[in-house]
Amino acid sequence: MSVHFKTIFILILINKCLASDWDYLEHGPDVWSEHYPTCGGERQSPINIKTACTIYQPLDQFILTPDHVTENNFIAKYNGHTISSETNNKNLALQGGNLTGTFYFDSFHLHWGPNHNVGSEHQMNGLKSAGESHFVYRNALTNERAVLSFLMETRLTKSFRSNNKNDFYDTKSESEWKKFFDVAQKLTHENDSASIDLSLNSLMGNNRNEYWRYAGSLTTPPCTENVIWTIFKEPIVLLDYEFNSFRHELFFESFRGPQPLYYRQVYRTFRDEIQSKIPDENCCISAKSMGKSMIFNNKINSIYFFAAFLILSTIF
Ligand SMILES: *[C@@H]1O[C@H](CO)[C@@H](O)[C@H](O)[C@H]1NC(C)=O
Ligand SMILES: *[C@@H]1O[C@H](CO)[C@@H](O)[C@H](O)[C@H]1NC(C)=O
Repeated sequence: MSVHFKTIFILILINKCLASDWDYLEHGPDVWSEHYPTCGGERQSPINIKTACTIYQPLDQFILTPDHVTENNFIAKYNGHTISSETNNKNLALQGGNLTGTFYFDSFHLHWGPNHNVGSEHQMNGLKSAGESHFVYRNALTNERAVLSFLMETRLTKSFRSNNKNDFYDTKSESEWKKFFDVAQKLTHENDSASIDLSLNSLMGNNRNEYWRYAGSLTTPPCTENVIWTIFKEPIVLLDYEFNSFRHELFFESFRGPQPLYYRQVYRTFRDEIQSKIPDENCCISAKSMGKSMIFNNKINSIYFFAAFLILSTIF
């Protein structure tokens, strides 16, 4: 009897260890690298995009297969970290956008935060959005991933539709996301899943020519550094309450903060850059100039050293 209990206890313990390997709480992003060393690497995602420091680089248009437009059956599942949606359709492929080869759709998922001013993984000049959706594609030949990422901004009331004509608002996209949220909101226990018919093209919104591009990683353990990131300039706009059940039933927040850029360059496909009102965000230190300033500092140091030597030698 007691042996039986011990076995059960050990099983529960093992299960608990496996289940709480990483999360957004005690085992959150700040300690991920202790179990997953790659999470402490030099090509990590997300990042804060200092828009004034990006380089203009016209890239090819994306080519999405026609199945992106039609509705496909997705299984949305709460996997313990986020709601992830997959489909059996093998004809969802992505080319162009200066990606090498053909990338096949793997899944899409969301990141969110406790209120409408926080939740996105990528930041723009230090500013956060309410959420971020990631459409993950994979090139089976190179094992490289391409993630199409959309920042999700939310409005507190429906009045944003009529009041502000300049406010980007794509009805098709919002109603498609509403369809998703209506189902996803009910997935509150780990491994809960449900079926939804969705068009990826509608979820992704209209403007897919303007985006930022950089080389990064998965934003969750094991943080594999094999992702080509595309962050679209045009956010998806939703009503804020859509995220409420995620915030209250799943996690208060589910995002990783910006990681150091190190020696990477961020490109943009549109000519005019946005200057931030925050001066710090316009301060660009490139890898090259960093190298130079190190040499410069060394020179200054040796000048001081030489001066000190001269002064000392005149004294004595
Ligand atoms: C993108 O691809 C096109 C050709 O497909 C090429 O002309 C262009 O130089 C590429 N741009 C970059 C930044 O690699
Ligand atoms: C959910 O599914 C995974 C993989 O199938 C399994 O390891 C895990 O124990 C399941 N979690 C729960 C709470 O049933």
